[in-house]
Amino acid sequence: MSEILLTGGTGYIGSHAAVELLEAGRDVVIVDNLYNSEAAVIDRIEKITGKRPSFYELDVTDKAAMESMLAEHDFSGVMHFAGYKAVGESVEKPLEYYRNNIDSAVTLLELMAEHGIKSMIFSSSATVYSKSDKVPYVETDPDTGCTNPYGWTKYMIEQIMKDAAAAHPEMSLVALRYFNPIGAHQSGLIGEKPNGIPNNLMPYITQVAAGIRPKLNVFGNDYPTPDGTGVRDYIHVVDLAKGHLKALDYSEQNTGFEVFNLGTGNGVSVLDLVKAFERVNDIKIPYEIAPRRAGDIATCYADAHKANQILDWHAELTIDDMCRDAWRWEKQQRGL
Ligand code: NAD
Ligand code: UFG
Repeated sequence: MSEILLTGGTGYIGSHAAVELLEAGRDVVIVDNLYNSEAAVIDRIEKITGKRPSFYELDVTDKAAMESMLAEHDFSGVMHFAGYKAVGESVEKPLEYYRNNIDSAVTLLELMAEHGIKSMIFSSSATVYSKSDKVPYVETDPDTGCTNPYGWTKYMIEQIMKDAAAAHPEMSLVALRYFNPIGAHQSGLIGEKPNGIPNNLMPYITQVAAGIRPKLNVFGNDYPTPDGTGVRDYIHVVDLAKGHLKALDYSEQNTGFEVFNLGTGNGVSVLDLVKAFERVNDIKIPYEIAPRRAGDIATCYADAHKANQILDWHAELTIDDMCRDAWRWEKQQRGL
């Protein structure tokens, strides 16, 4: 069987997708410039699966280097994870976000068209819905635009994919709108490794649990939600990775542009997640109510019916699994 190219495959979500693909018997080639990950992830993927993916340390926007890599392989599909992803940073450095995220997607689509590679699975985000106040979010919701440059890169790349699919009818381009991926592989060997102070809730909680940070700041308890704290659709990263396999199967049998939400369909508050983490891992998480964080919305969760029905994909792992696996990963990294 021909190979699948994973850009950003040493990163958090890409590494979990690599594991699922290898375990499903697919051949995997990873391209990553190691901007936000490390080459040792390849060893860990091999340790989990018993198979070593080919790895190229290169930038997806470097078309000549990508051409040389492509000459050595026979790809039938691409999963495009590579990109910058920090919402706040994108407000400070919009041009870097547009350059890296848009350029890498366009470069890849050009190469696909030139080399006859049919399928692309793209990491989009629920952030494309963030100006809407109607939940759950459905793929057919009208475009409302985005609240930050990072979100706009996802929005624009979806539009570029739509236009490319119309012009190249043999192509099958799928955008997956992730909700809030958390947790880690059950082996404890791969997971999310934020640089510096984590922006996201779960890595912050695990660092409080590890004693690296004294307490969690809960950003607002006056939202119109059951306990006043922000509600999100947390999805286990392994479930998310499995969704990519289903999307790949779908794209191999179809053509055109399609978009799917990948979420559980359940909203969980900040305090719900803290309580679940404390219960499952038997660790107290000290927290303090802090002011709302700029740009946050009250509630965000998916209508996941489209992926359930068309991809035959359902999130299976629970909030308890997410809390247990995230903590196992944090302990493994810290040698606890
Ligand atoms: P990550 O930072 O762990 O992984 C992204 C990888 O891409 C990194 O290893 C980085 O080194 C690499 N990369 C970045 N620019 C590159 C380039 N030009 N060439 C080659 N490699 C490059 O992030 P992640 O959490 O695994 O996210 C993967 C994708 O999913 C991203 O596109 C992100 O925007 C999207 N996404 C993530 C979340 C989330 O909460 N983690 C939510 C929605 C969407
Ligand atoms: N939160 C805290 N304290 C923290 C961190 C977060 O209370 O230290 C709260 C937030 O206010 C929010 C919830 O926890 O209510 C989740 O926050 P995250 O930062 O973990 O996730 P977001 O929903 O803000 O953002 C995520 C991704 C973005 C993506 C967005 C869109 O990180 O990339 O989902 O769905 F754009």
